[in-house]
Amino acid sequence: MRALILAGGAGTRLRPITHTRAKQLVPVANKPILFYGIEAMVDAGITEIGVIVGDTRDEVMEALGDGAQFGAAITYIPQDEPLGLAHCVLIAKDFLADDDFVMYLGDNLLEQDLAAFTAAFERERAGATPPDAQILLKQVPDPHRFGIATLDSDGNVVQLIEKPADPPSDLALVGVYLFNALIHDAVAAIEPSPRGELEITDAIQWLVDQGRRVRCELLTGWWIDTGKLTPLLEANRLLLERIDSQIDGDVDETSVIDGRVHIAAGARIINSTIRGPVSIGPDAEIRDAFIGPFSAVGARCSVVSSEVEHSVIMDDSTISDIPRLEDSLIGSHAEVNRTRRKPRSLQLMVGDHCQIDVE
Ligand code: TTP
Repeated sequence: MRALILAGGAGTRLRPITHTRAKQLVPVANKPILFYGIEAMVDAGITEIGVIVGDTRDEVMEALGDGAQFGAAITYIPQDEPLGLAHCVLIAKDFLADDDFVMYLGDNLLEQDLAAFTAAFERERAGATPPDAQILLKQVPDPHRFGIATLDSDGNVVQLIEKPADPPSDLALVGVYLFNALIHDAVAAIEPSPRGELEITDAIQWLVDQGRRVRCELLTGWWIDTGKLTPLLEANRLLLERIDSQIDGDVDETSVIDGRVHIAAGARIINSTIRGPVSIGPDAEIRDAFIGPFSAVGARCSVVSSEVEHSVIMDDSTISDIPRLEDSLIGSHAEVNRTRRKPRSLQLMVGDHCQIDVE
């Protein structure tokens, strides 16, 4: 089995951060989102991985390399324009050959045992009605925002609709799919949708219309499409909840570390309180500061005389004299400074290389 990971696209909903970086490389709990998907593949025994790359290909290729750091072999498949999820399958045909494959949206994070998902497909293939595709569904409160499935009484998929105005069910397609080689016929047969994309929902619907079985599983754990700020911070929270305490950096005797905190090598904590779950990246400096729960501070950041909570601060940024920064996403190489002393709480989304001076 192979994997196809989608890391192209535009990422309009996470601007300004995604003006300057691939949204799949935004870190949560101090690790790029995309790494979690790749690690999940390797854990499931899938090491032949194709990665679709778009405008941000240089950055994605630099971060992933040849895949050796994950124990995988990565093949890059360039996509000139984000023409849809099914278009990604179309252009990956040579890489995928006749193999079964897992398709994974590179900006999604989910709590799912991928090995169990693929094992279920293999098992069912030996049965009387082998499936040609398998999808993962999750009940959502706002189905009009997603691709939605309706099922028959046996739990097989009968209909898929992309972002329906009048949703027939509340079962949304999560960004993980399993296909056999028949999907290549499907993506070649469909036409672009009104929004100009080759939709994977239309390709799967084509399979259903051909009388093929599309099996589904319900996701019981969490699933986050990280393309927007609030879900991104939520993903950061959920992943930090799983970290173990590990202190490799220096903590001076006037500082207090409370709860599960990861402090990477070279980081220095001076006269500060860190209340976990928190991750502090390598060579960061935290001085006269409070870092509260669900914060991830990137490599080489400096947080001075400030309070930070429930926020992601990317590498090489500086926060100084900010009484309270919460629910914020700060890009890399950014500076947030306060020039006059007036207590106030800030909620910010700051792009890379920005400087914000707060009065
Ligand atoms: P989407 O979130 O559907 O699309 P997008 O990246 O264009 O984002 P936005 O709506 O914020 O502008 O994409 C899901 C994942 O698939 C994401 O990792 C990008 C990737 N993708 C491709 O690689 N090629 C494509 O043609 C599309 C549509 C998405």
